[in-house]
Amino acid sequence: MDQFTIPRPGGGDIVDLITDDHRLLEDLMRALRDETADRAAARASFAEVLVAHSIAEEESVYPRLRRKDVIEEDEADEGEEEHAATNECLLRLLRADVSATEDFESAVELVAQILNHHINEEEISILNPAQTETPRDVREQLGAAWTARRNQLLDEGCASREQVQQLVDAAYEDGLLPNDDQPEG
Ligand SMILES: [Fe+2]
Ligand SMILES: [Fe+2]
Repeated sequence: MDQFTIPRPGGGDIVDLITDDHRLLEDLMRALRDETADRAAARASFAEVLVAHSIAEEESVYPRLRRKDVIEEDEADEGEEEHAATNECLLRLLRADVSATEDFESAVELVAQILNHHINEEEISILNPAQTETPRDVREQLGAAWTARRNQLLDEGCASREQVQQLVDAAYEDGLLPNDDQPEG
């Protein structure tokens, strides 16, 4: 592809894997801000990593940490709500015209604000207990499950405008986003 090729780790400790992916998302946000970068290519990689990363957390990590009582239900719910809010901002970014610099940059700023908040919360309230309250073999099992799902989603393609629209619609239906500010059309 290009400079924004997405790394595909094959496994490891879930805490290391997720934090490495957070740093990758931060690097991609830097590229989105950089007017000399290929912003369209950076946006495509950012969207794919973000969606694959989050769905794999919701399906393969949060429920298992809940079952083991490593995290509370509130923490898992908050994580899902923040993913939904991030996807809604991602949709706006995907709809923005890269050449309409001001619109594009304000969409970048919005998604960065929500995502930076989520990364901070997740590293503190989910990854810290995962690190201190689960043994290494469990962290590696979680790492294998998360990478398998993430890589499958990346292979299939998971963040077209239509796919992200479907995720946002489903989040409204599930009550993960407040219904009163649902945008028109
Ligand atoms: Fe994450
Ligand atoms: Fe997350």
